Order: sequence, then structure tokens, then C-alpha cells
Amino acid sequence: PLPPPFQVPLPIPAVLPPLSRDADADRYEIVQRVATAEILPGLRTPIWGYQGTFPGPTIESRSGRTTVVRHRNELPVPTVVHLHGGRTPPDSDGYATDLVLPASGWRAAHQGMLDPDAKITQGLRDYAYPLRQRASGLWYHDHRMDFTGPAVHRGLAGFHFVRDAEEDALPLPRGERELPLMIADRAFAADGSMRYPSLDSTLSTVPGVEEPYAAGVFGDVILVNGAPWPVAEVSATRYRLRLLNASNARRYDLALDPPPPDGPAFTQIGSDQGLLDAPRGHDHLPIAPAERYDVVVDFGRYPVGTEITLVNRAGTGSTAYVLRFRVTRRGTEDSHVPDRLSTIEPLDRTRAGVIREFSFRGAPSGGRHGWLIGGQPYSPSRIDARPRLGDVEIWRFVADVHHPIHLHLVQFRVLSRGGREPGPFDGGLKDTVDLRPGEAVEVIARFDGYRGRYMFHCHNAEHEDMGMMANFETV
Ligand code: C2O
Ligand code: CU
Repeated sequence: PLPPPFQVPLPIPAVLPPLSRDADADRYEIVQRVATAEILPGLRTPIWGYQGTFPGPTIESRSGRTTVVRHRNELPVPTVVHLHGGRTPPDSDGYATDLVLPASGWRAAHQGMLDPDAKITQGLRDYAYPLRQRASGLWYHDHRMDFTGPAVHRGLAGFHFVRDAEEDALPLPRGERELPLMIADRAFAADGSMRYPSLDSTLSTVPGVEEPYAAGVFGDVILVNGAPWPVAEVSATRYRLRLLNASNARRYDLALDPPPPDGPAFTQIGSDQGLLDAPRGHDHLPIAPAERYDVVVDFGRYPVGTEITLVNRAGTGSTAYVLRFRVTRRGTEDSHVPDRLSTIEPLDRTRAGVIREFSFRGAPSGGRHGWLIGGQPYSPSRIDARPRLGDVEIWRFVADVHHPIHLHLVQFRVLSRGGREPGPFDGGLKDTVDLRPGEAVEVIARFDGYRGRYMFHCHNAEHEDMGMMANFETV
């Protein structure tokens, strides 16, 4: 039986203190290890956690200041850490075959070890993030070739916020009135363990999931920051919600119940890659795996004592609700949302020298269900696009079913959706765009930053593990 919702207080992941701060960098260390967590009341759930927690600790960085994170792998399998949304040199981007082997050793053959370009380390690795990018809500998660889905599912995910002076100068809600919300669904067995239908329970050689789960692994329990349908006590003031869908495959359509008596439920101030130019009101927020929204909700529009549920209009039964806010007290309002938030460099069609097209489709592959980009399954050795460093390109994606497409390294804008103008949720700078069934989406990006091999892929983790990933190389 599922536990009753809205009983557990919303946990806020701890902010990781740096080991040192010197002139060049802030240095952190994270140990990846097996742990147990009490996720469902009274049960012990085995997890894989950064610092042994799920979510992992939050990292807070300043734009333009290098953050170095030393990851120690005390898990029984190789790992790879990717900072999602980071503008990161290729050797620290967490390429899927740049394995960190377990400190205790590793004997099994792993497909990723056949990549001659892989940079494999034993026990630990320093990931260096220059963070030459604007303030944004990033996240870090496992990215090992063929086994990202089960590793993230066991808990390898955390927030990484980048802050800058432009954002600091805005009168937005801060401190206790800024809530990171990592939403993820899970299924549990009776003993409290999380159920993931891997074909290979050792997560060492055979990728993928049992056939009925080929479209993605879903759960009937909605976790926010690792707690089932938690409850957050808030004052009757504005709050800034940093929403992240860290689910393997589930997409949500978030709304407030009851809706506020006037005005839109959510004032969106930012997207995957930081602030919008101006706020946008929304009554609901569709969010696909890996997407983020930065929104302000004004609980001052509700009387003290009101309970407001963050519901999921795309769900049914236990997946139709996510989180409850309880307005428990009055509060002094010291924030507002200004009409102008930031400036985003325009990038129109005429700037692009190259247009590329990629299809995202399911098809049998190697005798099983597979997921392909441009008709081909992922291979570390095939480069499908070589943008010149600094060039602007348009990439056109075409889908069969829903696929959230993510590009490493770059920040893009949605240029068109279904042959029309971008939709209401496509604003700002993005790094993940959700394609609906049968839809074509064009994005435009400047491929600047660093030269090297980077991945782009579907962020449905099961699709990704079953082939829906490819490479581009900035040259
Ligand atoms: Cu969030 Cu390539 O990953
Ligand atoms: Cu997909």
C-alpha cells in the first residue's frame, strides 16, 4: 500500500561546503556511496547517493569562478558525472565512457571500455567547471554509457546553482523563500527497495530494461527532494521555486489546486539556462525529464490556513499530485518580480550558416527494442555533426513519440515548434526541449565555449541507455 500523501515535511538538500577556496577555484569533494534512506515511513531503502544522500548535496557556485569537484567512487560499478547545463570543457563534461572505476576495483568488461578515446580513471576524478555562463539552475547526475537510467534511479542526482551579480541585484524571493524542488517518480517493492527492471542486475554488461519498460520506467510514488508527496509550510508571501524534473521518463503538467483567486498561478522568471528577458504568467507548467523552470508563486493571494496542492494534470491516481503547500503564517513581503529581468542576445534564422536534421525514433536494434537518432544507435566513435567553434546553427529535430532532447555545452533557443512560432513554455535559453509525438522542433544555438566531443541525446533515461544518443564535435 502507498503511504498517505502530505505527511512528510519537504526536505531541502544540504548545501555542500567547499573544502577550500583559493584565488583560482572553489574545491569540493563528493563521495559516491551505497547508503540507505528512509523514503517511505518506517522502511529502509537502499540508494546510491552523492555523499550517501538522495538528492545529493547542492553546490552553490559563482558565475565565472571555477568549481572543482573531486568525486570518489565507492560504488560497486563505474560512474561518470555530468553537470547538466554546464558549459564545460570536454574532459570534465562527463563523457559517457570517461569512467571512474570503483575504488575497490572492477573486473567486468564494459562496452564503454572499448572506446579508444575514453579517459578512464580509478577511484576518483577531479571535474573542473569554469562556469563561464549566466546564473542558472543546473543539476549533476550520473551519465555512464548504457547504465544512466538505473544509476540516476538509485539516487545519483543533485542540484548545482550558478549565481551572478545580475540575478543578485533583482528583488526576487531568497533564502528560505527560494525552494529547490527535484521531482522524480519511483516504484517501491514491499521491503522498501526501489524497483528498476534492469536486464542485468549487476549493471555491468547488458544495457536496457525488460521489454514492457522499453518506453521508460515509471513509478507510482512522486518524490520531491527524495520525499513522497511532501508538505511545505510557507508564509503568505512570494516564493521562488526552482523546479527540476529529475524523473527517468515521466513528464508532468504542474498546476496549483486551488488556483489563486486572481492572476496566473506561476510567474515564470527563468528557464533551463537562466533568467527570461521578462516574466511570463502561466496557469500550468508542462515539464519533461531534465527540464527546469524558475517560477515565483505568491502565496499572499491565499488566506492563512489555506492548503494548496501542486498537482500533476498529466497524472492519474497517486501520480496526479506532487506536493502540498500549507500557508501557516503571515510574513513581511520584501520581494517582487520586476518587469525586466535580463537581456538575451537575439539569434535569428539569418545568423545560421548550417541547418541539420535529426530524427528520434524507436526501432528494433540488435534483436530488441531500441531508440535511434538518425536511424542509428549510439556509438562513441561516430560523430554526427562538426560545428565550427563560434558558429550559429539550426538543428531540426523530428520525433515519433515524446522525446526530451538535450544538447551538452550549448544554450539554445526554440525557433519553431510544429512549423509554428515557439509555444508559451519555450521562452528563454534552454538546454532541453520536449518534442511531442510526431512533432518537429527547430532550435538555434551558437556552438561556442570549447572544442571537443560532446553528446546530445534523448533525456528519457531508458531511451538514452537503449541507443538514443549521438555525438557532435566542435572544431
Ligand atoms: Cu542531463 Cu547528457 O544529460
Ligand atoms: Cu526519447
